[in-house]
Amino acid sequence: MTDLEIKGKRITIRPLKVDDVYLMRKWGFHENPLLEDYNFPKLSDKDIKMWYRVKTNRFVNKYYGIRNESDELIGYMGIKNIKRITKESTLGLVLDPNQVDKGYGTEILETFLQYYFSKMKMRKMILEVAEFNKRAYRLYEKIGFKPIGYYLDEFFDSGLDLTNPYYIIEKSSFVIKGEKIYNYIYKMTLDRKRFFKLRQ
Ligand SMILES: CC(C)(COP(=O)(O)OP(=O)(O)OC[C@H]1O[C@@H](n2cnc3c(N)ncnc32)[C@H](O)[C@@H]1OP(=O)(O)O)[C@@H](O)C(=O)NCCC(=O)NCCS
Repeated sequence: MTDLEIKGKRITIRPLKVDDVYLMRKWGFHENPLLEDYNFPKLSDKDIKMWYRVKTNRFVNKYYGIRNESDELIGYMGIKNIKRITKESTLGLVLDPNQVDKGYGTEILETFLQYYFSKMKMRKMILEVAEFNKRAYRLYEKIGFKPIGYYLDEFFDSGLDLTNPYYIIEKSSFVIKGEKIYNYIYKMTLDRKRFFKLRQ
């Protein structure tokens, strides 16, 4: 493991360590059932080690832990399916539910992408975001990501309560077919040229 440290104003990004994952058990949780998948699951010590191994054991993925100015672990991110020839990868970013809406996501992406496009010499970043996830979409759009695809995917919870107000507000982003629940996803990308052009 390297001593790599990517520093922003308030945040520090370092390669993810197993000790970071233990801290995620203390995170808050999203009341919104649409975001349930981003609540850190209840895991035993053994499961934590396994979770860490599954995330970090592949050469094509890199995971990072993110600390704030008080050295609290506020989130983790991954670049997945790293393609060393075309120099692209797919982003994943998850914050402690107690730390959302404080501008950290913006700072994390500004800081990381600067490093990604200059030091790592990558050319493109790809991501997928659910249409109902308005906060995440807004963040990506603000950073400069552009939608390049829009498609339906199966929602992770086929037992979602369709009378829940969080669902009702975002109903237009869903399609129900028989027993199955699908939701619309945007695929978005940002390339190096556009990233730097927007910041001139
Ligand atoms: C998505 C996530 C990484 C964003 O990070 P964050 O620190 O909360 O985001 P920021 O505060 O930096 O920016 C959020 C932006 O969305 C806006 N926003 C918040 N809620 C919104 C809503 N319901 N509708 C539209 N915009 C919204 C904010 O106003 C802000 O935009 P602004 O700077 O123009 O005012 C974080 O909320 C998170 O981890 N969410 C749960 C996991 C997740 O969804 N991961 C992404 C999967 S693709």
